[in-house]
Amino acid sequence: MSKGKFITLEGIEGVGKTTNREYIRELLLKNGKPCIETREPGGTPLGEALREMLLEHKHEGMSADAELLMMFAARAEHLHKVIIPALNAGTNVLCDRFTEATYAYQGGGRELGMEKIADLENWVQGDLRPDLTVVLDAPVDIGRERAGKRSAPDRIEKEKNDFFDKVRNTYLEQAKQHPERIAVVDASVELEQVQQQIYDVLLNYRIIE
Ligand code: TMP
Repeated sequence: MSKGKFITLEGIEGVGKTTNREYIRELLLKNGKPCIETREPGGTPLGEALREMLLEHKHEGMSADAELLMMFAARAEHLHKVIIPALNAGTNVLCDRFTEATYAYQGGGRELGMEKIADLENWVQGDLRPDLTVVLDAPVDIGRERAGKRSAPDRIEKEKNDFFDKVRNTYLEQAKQHPERIAVVDASVELEQVQQQIYDVLLNYRIIE
């Protein structure tokens, strides 16, 4: 049996991850390629518990290393319990954030650098990488303005604009380094145009036909 495809969705807050995740799920389904949907940090009972700890204000001032390691602890559980079994069974997996978020937020935003993350990535994932990562990209002020209209910011969302500039730039840098598996979509335009770009990306990366 051929392996399932592993697709991840990334971007700073307010770029439309939720709406576009639904669009990708529907496109896959129309193509006869149903998927399971999951998210990081989270996706398992342990991962969701770690997510709560990571995002609640109670742990304000958490060390950047602790944050990084908790992201990867959640990821290890998620990979072992959900992602790898699904891919091995031929099921496609659509995941809201994955390791590219760690490069962007902990590597870029928290300035932990790329090396520690690459070591953890190799340790926890072996050679498993997403088949496609879609980075929804928009200037920070546009994303924040859209996101501000929603719920109260969590521990990470309440960071300042310069943090998110570093996050955004790291996503763009990662996409330049791995164009074979990371695609950037301009999410600052109208939804219809964003979805046209997503459609083209899924075609070009042979996720759909
Ligand atoms: P979400 O609500 O968009 O899923 O975001 C969860 C938050 O966790 C978001 O602010 C990004 C952050 N995050 C990291 O900092 N590093 C990571 O590795 C992941 C997966 C998420």
